[in-house]
Amino acid sequence: MHPVRFKKLALITVPALILVLAAAFYFFNLHNEVALEGPQGEIGINETSSAAWAKFYPAHWDSYQANYANIEKPSHFETKPYMKDIYAGFGFAFEYNEPRGHVHTIEDILAIDPARKKAGASCFTCKSTQVPEMMQKYGSDYYLMSFDAIKTEITEPIGCLDCHDPQTMQLRLSRPALIEALERQGKEVSKLSQQEMRSLVCAQCHVTYYFEPNTKKITFPWDKGIKADHILAYYDEKNFSEWTHPVAGTGLVKPRHAEYETFMNSTHQSAGLACADCHMPYTKVGNKKISSHVWQSPLNNIEASCTTCHRNGTDWLEQRVDTIQTQCKQSQELAAYAVVEAINELKLSQEYPTVNQGKLQEAMALHRKAQWYLDYVMVTNGYGFHNPTETLNNLNIALDAAHQSIKLALAARGQIQ
Ligand code: HEC
Ligand code: HEC
Ligand code: HEC
Ligand code: HEC
Repeated sequence: MHPVRFKKLALITVPALILVLAAAFYFFNLHNEVALEGPQGEIGINETSSAAWAKFYPAHWDSYQANYANIEKPSHFETKPYMKDIYAGFGFAFEYNEPRGHVHTIEDILAIDPARKKAGASCFTCKSTQVPEMMQKYGSDYYLMSFDAIKTEITEPIGCLDCHDPQTMQLRLSRPALIEALERQGKEVSKLSQQEMRSLVCAQCHVTYYFEPNTKKITFPWDKGIKADHILAYYDEKNFSEWTHPVAGTGLVKPRHAEYETFMNSTHQSAGLACADCHMPYTKVGNKKISSHVWQSPLNNIEASCTTCHRNGTDWLEQRVDTIQTQCKQSQELAAYAVVEAINELKLSQEYPTVNQGKLQEAMALHRKAQWYLDYVMVTNGYGFHNPTETLNNLNIALDAAHQSIKLALAARGQIQ
């Protein structure tokens, strides 16, 4: 290129580039404007009581207190009656409620159906600021303790210490299972970006996990990747089952609220968003602007959560969310009833005297797969909104595997070829 033309081009593009970068920086760092009240460094490094942080951060404390208003916890069984068949033989079949506000965790866990206490002290791991302290106190025995042995020691619900370093107020990770999973992936926890942290603080709890069979330690099954396929492959390789379905005879694995895994690589995540962008939007408290500390459905606060980016109005947004969720629910129901049918066919084949064992085993393996993909969607909050295409894809895999399982179960007792 001619040097003069190059200079001209540079004169236009360089300032333009700087402008674009400045705009991008402005949009993604809006939170830098947010007031950090209070003197830092006066809160004890192990201050588990959120009330003790209140005097330094009164606006955040007020916001946090507003979580008490979030009280609904309807049973999943009301809208998903098929869950009882699918979870037969497992604690979840006795009671399984929708989540509510973070401040209710202690109350909710103490009221849990006794059939769900089998996991022991581990149940408390995502419920209280006191958990890291308990892990220090009891070491690896923490995971082996019974539910009743620890329940009187834990009184604080989720709070400031779960996500913040009390000295600097920086976001921090307090749960070893996440830190270890990231380290096994070769990530340096001290070098995570602020935007990654704005999702990872949530990933301490809003993820799927399992209890490592020997140590009962909570472990994230992420070593092959964080998507449903990778996680099932991880369990299959270990020959791991969490329980045996009493009717179908199949060894099964149980996904749990995989919000983080589902959100990763979604449209929004790849566009640079984090959980906090929608669930902790900037809000005015008095004359201060803070990140909302009311963890709830963003639809309760759609102006703050969505319209900063989407200018089509709240009606459009509500309709989009409703369309996505209705379609996901419909597909979920189709897959769920197919899995229930597979369970019923497997039962008949198990009871059949001259059953073809080879085909029966194959049918059971397909039931395991179908139920995994279905359940992965079913227990992940948001009804598909966090990643609509991936959600429907998982449900397609579930539906196909369930149909194949039904066919093989029928073939195993000679009903079809
Ligand atoms: C579930 C995790 C979580 C909990 C619990 C939590 N915070 Fe935060 N907090 C965040 C996130 C995420 C941000 C945004 C940080 C950022 O963007 O840099 C934040 C930001 C802040 C800030 C910086 C200013 C702002 O508003 O962005 C303060 C101060 C703060 N929180 C105080 C508290 C206090 C006090 C408590 C307890 C009453 C608390 N937080 C509980 C996740 C949490
Ligand atoms: C220490 C564990 C923990 C952390 C960290 C955590 N959560 Fe939660 N969250 C929970 C639990 C447990 C519940 C269910 C509480 C209940 O029903 O008693 C919940 C419930 C919720 C709900 C449901 C509220 C409702 O109305 O249904 C939302 C939304 C939510 N969390 C978002 C977040 C976001 C966003 C972050 C990160 C900024 C986060 N959570 C960090 C454990 C956690
Ligand atoms: C683009 C915005 C957006 C982002 C980013 C986002 N969510 Fe959500 N989330 C939603 C919407 C919308 C819903 C559906 C709310 C409803 O059905 O009322 C939802 C629902 C939820 C719920 C269930 C709340 C309820 O009341 O049923 C939880 C828990 C949750 N999200 C956690 C997370 C976590 C954890 C992350 C990050 C890994 C995340 N979300 C990222 C928009 C978002
Ligand atoms: C920080 C900016 C930002 C925020 C906040 C945000 N979005 Fe988005 N949203 C995007 C971007 C970027 C896309 C990608 C497509 C595009 O460029 O429009 C997108 C796409 C979408 C789509 C279509 C893609 C799909 O997956 O179906 C829907 C629907 C949507 N957003 C709804 C919401 C809702 C509801 C909220 C609030 C809970 C929200 N968004 C919050 C930036 C944002």
